[in-house]
Amino acid sequence: MCGIVGYVGKQKAVTILLEGLKRLEYRGYDSAGVAVLQNNHIDVAKKVGRVENLVKEVARHQLTGTTGIAHTRWATHGGVTDANAHPHVSSDGKFALIHNGVIENFASMKRFLLSKGYTFSSETDTEALVNLIAYHYQKEPQAGDKSRFLESVRRALMHVEGTYGIAVVCSDAPGEIVAARKASPLILGVGEEEYIIASDVSALISRTQNVVYLKDGELVHVTPKRFTIITQAEEDVSPIVNRVTWTVDATELGSYSHFMEKEIFEQPAALENTMRGRFSADGSTAQFGGLNLSPVEFRQLDRFAFCGCGTAWHACLVAEHLIERFARVPVEVDYSSEFRYRNTPLSGNTLFFMVSQSGETIDTLGALREAKRKGYKVMAINNSVGSSIAREADGGIYQHVGPEIGVASTKAFTSQLMVGAMIALYIARMRDMSFADGVQYVKALKGVPDLVRKVLEQAPHIRNVAKRFARYNDMLFLGRLSLFPIALEGALKLKEISYIHAEGYPAAEMKHGPIALISEKCPTVFFAPQCEIFNKLVSSIQEIKARRGPTIVVTTEGCEIPAGLADEVITIPDCHEAVLPIVATVPVQLLSYYIAVERGCDVDKPRNLAKSVTVE
Ligand code: AGP
Ligand code: GLU
Repeated sequence: MCGIVGYVGKQKAVTILLEGLKRLEYRGYDSAGVAVLQNNHIDVAKKVGRVENLVKEVARHQLTGTTGIAHTRWATHGGVTDANAHPHVSSDGKFALIHNGVIENFASMKRFLLSKGYTFSSETDTEALVNLIAYHYQKEPQAGDKSRFLESVRRALMHVEGTYGIAVVCSDAPGEIVAARKASPLILGVGEEEYIIASDVSALISRTQNVVYLKDGELVHVTPKRFTIITQAEEDVSPIVNRVTWTVDATELGSYSHFMEKEIFEQPAALENTMRGRFSADGSTAQFGGLNLSPVEFRQLDRFAFCGCGTAWHACLVAEHLIERFARVPVEVDYSSEFRYRNTPLSGNTLFFMVSQSGETIDTLGALREAKRKGYKVMAINNSVGSSIAREADGGIYQHVGPEIGVASTKAFTSQLMVGAMIALYIARMRDMSFADGVQYVKALKGVPDLVRKVLEQAPHIRNVAKRFARYNDMLFLGRLSLFPIALEGALKLKEISYIHAEGYPAAEMKHGPIALISEKCPTVFFAPQCEIFNKLVSSIQEIKARRGPTIVVTTEGCEIPAGLADEVITIPDCHEAVLPIVATVPVQLLSYYIAVERGCDVDKPRNLAKSVTVE
């Protein structure tokens, strides 16, 4: 969670740091702070709340230095207070540190440091680490030809249990930053006579597209003229400088009111990007460049396992449905957080897919490591190029939808559904799916962007529906088969951004419990597309109506919803089963978005959430 940015260069650091923080704010927004090095002194400004509060606070300080670090916090240890905001300064005033992650053994560290005379002014785990660095700096004044600053950070980190992405400045080392990572993301931007440390590319993209993705256990030492990377074991690392393909425009809001709105409307183009170059020349199957498995190896697999969290887990459920339906191969789906601890029995020929927009979700990274530890090959389905999950996987499929900034995932989700549908096709065509069926399937996938455009044209209607339903406190989402996960996704989207309590269920499960919730105070969003069980769906809507439950029915063109059953109807185009989940997702995204706007909620930064969950 949390955003980290650090700057060494010739410009006034605070300006660049605040701009970086604004771009990182979606990663955590409990508090924000900045530390700037000037005249061998560290000046700190920090404030509870959004970056805009920090901007006002900074105006009261004279922060003119050209080296600094800044942070937006998603609190884990200690309340949301100014004192707990980062950066934290060692009690001798020599070091300031920003941290993403959790220092699990901070209590014993703190006891030790208190006994050595260090003092604490926050309740965070982080403050123990900055004091431990100060302790090592004092304890080992001679570092030989090594940097004493780098060496004290390295030594302190040897005692840390937990996770961290950190950046540190030292009042004795003007123009220097030491940064390090273990399980939390960290990137070095290599600019013109300047370096930027950040927890994601969006914070540095306005200054450089050249980046080095740091690996776990690496430390980077930045000085005004150069940077060096070493491992915890003091080995030198030859850095690989990558070129980021997108530019700063992708992170701008443009004419939209919120990033979520922008990202919903970007979906036709995003889906085109996900598909680009990924169909065989004969137009009958999918192809992927990054799986690193030959068709023969792929053909030998007899089971697939998918892991993800939140929205990504919903995408896994849809992939399960499509692979089992079209390729007839069994699929297991697990929450990443459960998989890594529950020691699932697995068969030999299983291939794992870790699904994560950010590629940094720590639970999914943990699941990946657990699967690899057991000797399984792991593929990543991931949007952020160069992320931890992408790098640790044996191969994978990038989503290519550009940065997703809204905390509520939208375009990344539909693109994950697209990747899942393409994997189902790929496997099915290796098995029993005919050439003709493959061609039909590919045609359906290629047609999705236009179908999504058609649904987006209904935004004004969906906005009116939202106005009518915005004041309820509870809502049910019901769907069957491949639309059951979309019911879950609709409910998650709504609760995330509007704080309406919402539940998703398989429609037929309603009578086994959730029906008790139905009343005129609890509306239901019901997916009732044309399908072989359409009449059963209609019966379930009847049961809701019999109990005076208000209904919003999402159905396909040409379907007749009997009179009196739907208070509102949203019609989506009739489409191939493989793409129905994608097309059906768009109305519930729009519905949640407009409801949240109607309720005056902060759509892009919903309370208590952060875009990428890098703590367990
Ligand atoms: C989506 O709207 C949520 N904010 C959340 O459930 C998210 O999908 C989840 O944390 C997984 O993130 P990831 O895809 O980056 O791994
Ligand atoms: N554990 C630290 C804290 O609570 C860092 C949290 C974060 O990653 O923002 O302050």
